[in-house]
Amino acid sequence: SPAIPRALCCCASAATRCGRRWRGAGGACAAASAAAGAASSVPRDAALRAQYLQALGIEQWQLRRAPPLSGAWQQLAAEVRGCVRCGLHATRTQTVFGVGNLSAELLVVGEAPGADEDRQGEPFVGRAGQLLNSMLRAMRAPRDTVYIANLLKCRPPANRDPAAEEVACCQPYLQRQIELLGPRLMLAVGRIAAQNLLATDTPIGKLRGVVHRYGASGTPLIVTYHPAYLLRSPTEKRKSWVDLRLVCGELARLRALPRSA
Ligand code: URA
Repeated sequence: SPAIPRALCCCASAATRCGRRWRGAGGACAAASAAAGAASSVPRDAALRAQYLQALGIEQWQLRRAPPLSGAWQQLAAEVRGCVRCGLHATRTQTVFGVGNLSAELLVVGEAPGADEDRQGEPFVGRAGQLLNSMLRAMRAPRDTVYIANLLKCRPPANRDPAAEEVACCQPYLQRQIELLGPRLMLAVGRIAAQNLLATDTPIGKLRGVVHRYGASGTPLIVTYHPAYLLRSPTEKRKSWVDLRLVCGELARLRALPRSA
């Protein structure tokens, strides 16, 4: 069975015993990994951070903010912000549009914002988001190089599953994001995202391991488990790592083709 990187590898007992889980970079540069961890939102000792950054020769460090959207992206974001197409607008704190690199090759699609995302207005910023970040780093595709969005732009109350009509109302927004981004590859995380994007009720276990095609554009799409599920079932991370390696392999293959192919 494949070796899984340190970033993803953590047994449940270690997870409960040790507060340092998910912080490894899965590889090459321990100092960079530690500095990244120190630079994350997890509270860490500022002196230790300074020490790591100094060791890396970094004199100034500040959080990278996404540049403001313009043109069609800005227009779409404004449309989403004002959306009242379904009942979720009444209970949301704010919409959660999507985040990331507008030239990304990889589009990650999740289900819907949770409480943290609803509060902060950004997808995957809670515990599941921390694990997603580790998964992305393990693929050497860190968060700021990909684009991340959800099927739904508003939080379903009490994190219930999205209703079919909510998905239908929100679908044009994700569709437009896909058109504007033109990703080489999509990664659907979790059963709800996978089944809705592929318009199927096939169980997620059966959707893994192959490259599907999404919609009319035929964008290649790979399915893996939702990081929230992996937090509950850490032994499934091994399977998820197999999926992520498929993503890496497929991206490498697609990179060799012209972008529009
Ligand atoms: N789960 C999701 O599917 N999306 C988020 O943004 C957060 C948690």
